[in-house]
Amino acid sequence: MSVTAIRGFNDILPGDTEAWRHIEQTAWSIFSAYGFSEIKLPIVEKTELFARSIGETTDIVEKEMYTFADRHGDAITLRPEGTAPAVRAYIEHKLYTAPVTRLYYTGPMFRYERPQKGRYRQFYQIGAEVLGDESPRADAETLSMLMKFFGTLKVKGATLQVNSLGDASCRPAYKKKLYEYLKEHSSGLCENCLRRIETNPLRALDCKATGCIEATRNAPSLVDSLCEGCATHFDKVRYFLKLYGIEPVINPRMVRGLDYYTRTTFEITADTGLGSQNAVAAGGRYDGLVSELGGPSTPCFGFAIGIERLSLLLERSQVPSSPLTVFIALGIDAEKKGVELISLWRSSGIRVVEDFSTGALKTRMKRADRLGAAFAVILGENELAEGVVTIKDMKNAAQETIAWDRVAGIIGGAGK
Ligand code: HAM
Repeated sequence: MSVTAIRGFNDILPGDTEAWRHIEQTAWSIFSAYGFSEIKLPIVEKTELFARSIGETTDIVEKEMYTFADRHGDAITLRPEGTAPAVRAYIEHKLYTAPVTRLYYTGPMFRYERPQKGRYRQFYQIGAEVLGDESPRADAETLSMLMKFFGTLKVKGATLQVNSLGDASCRPAYKKKLYEYLKEHSSGLCENCLRRIETNPLRALDCKATGCIEATRNAPSLVDSLCEGCATHFDKVRYFLKLYGIEPVINPRMVRGLDYYTRTTFEITADTGLGSQNAVAAGGRYDGLVSELGGPSTPCFGFAIGIERLSLLLERSQVPSSPLTVFIALGIDAEKKGVELISLWRSSGIRVVEDFSTGALKTRMKRADRLGAAFAVILGENELAEGVVTIKDMKNAAQETIAWDRVAGIIGGAGK
């Protein structure tokens, strides 16, 4: 047996975890300012929750779920996404007694997809859901919050693509129109789209196979087939987005891989350098899902951000770092004073690692360098007698003698 991780399941190592933390903390501070509260959801749910919400004929439910029988033979599934669990919790805990509920969550999701850079079998999302608001302003404001989040992280080239998928009053007629069109142009369709033509013809619109792109080139457009309510909603979303200074790209071919969407859907793409894995966030409105799962009729809007993809986009220079300081004590008495000083420095937020090795100072300085220390602090007999330490800046080898009570100010300030 080789001890390696399963393909598509990644370790996120120190060096990258700082970027992840920065992403999560930025999300938290921005989302919180918009009234979102965190919810922690289980990683496994009953399989039927996903089958009923995401849709039986979607790729996710058909072939990407990690589904197992537990010890009692009940079918359970590692969550492939967070919206269905959030809605389940919303209904179960009667969160609908508040007029609007704004939830935010983060954690791993699982899909049995073909792994490649930017697409994994375990991946992390930050998701947010506005439950109980039908106004197009909720769509626009939430999207503007998301764009603000990408702006704060200085993500380059973040582009918002929007579409409307209509609702129960206009989508069935459109589906029929599209079905008839696809029947006539079926010769070019890929096997997958051919198979789904009866159940989920919309998928052919965003299939990446050349034959499907060709076959659907002149297909009827959903945006042109919206009922009055959906068309007005879509117009208003665009109007309010403009108020927030956002000019979205209208993409009438954008169909999401989850069946619960109604009206507004969107994707935010950026230059990830990963070809088709360029969606860093996606979501939309799902006005029917809460009632579909047994709750009161509740209009909702939400999104999820893919943390791995976003982390690839983040310039590491944007990630705040806290430099490491290695403390070197020379002599027994210095160790005693050192323990006291280190404790004080740590309390003021400095990252200190004491070097427990013995031997020549030169060798110990080399160890400090290999540990990646920004500073080495030396306390020898002379320093002890004078109430000072020698601080070496490892980058430029500059050395200074500093009184004990000034160390925290100097090293602490360097990390901020
Ligand atoms: P989704 O489009 O399936 O939507 O996923 C959202 C984001 O998760 C994608 O844009 C991508 O960045 C990331 N993602 C998805 N699959 C993978 C993967 N295999 N590897 C790496 N990253 C991935 C949802 O999940 C919906 N629940 C979003 C939503 C919330 N809609 C309404 N509320």
